[in-house]
Amino acid sequence: ADFSARLSAIIDCHKDREGPLLPILHDIQSEWGYVPEEAQPVIAAALSLTRAEVHGVVSFYHDFRDHPSGRHVLRLCRAEACQSMGADALAEQVRAALGIDFHETTPDGRLTLEPVFCLGLCACGPSAQMGDRLVGRASFAKVQRLVTEAGA
Ligand code: FES
Repeated sequence: ADFSARLSAIIDCHKDREGPLLPILHDIQSEWGYVPEEAQPVIAAALSLTRAEVHGVVSFYHDFRDHPSGRHVLRLCRAEACQSMGADALAEQVRAALGIDFHETTPDGRLTLEPVFCLGLCACGPSAQMGDRLVGRASFAKVQRLVTEAGA
């Protein structure tokens, strides 16, 4: 459907409720996979906010992204149980190998790296997720294998 028509439909659906901004952003993100930059001034105008306010919320919540993700998303658990099992060192290696930081996408658009807070595998951390595959006791080699097997 036409971008601005879909966008106004989403805004209209929420704008009269209390605290409309987050539900609007959630719907936009599920429709397009991200919150397009050009949607932000439209939302701001509809809710009588400034663009900076809308942008601030989009960048504050890590659930929202302001550009499309790569074809694959690799998530590394950053929560406490995994941290105590070496999640930081693992993240360090993965970031260095991919040449990107969290919330970034490789220049070829193949892979986006995202932090996640608990994948429910706390007993066997550190844990990682690639698409719908979850792995526990994730080593750098395991993560590399996950990435390769996903074709990313
Ligand atoms: Fe990492 Fe729960 S803390 S899976």
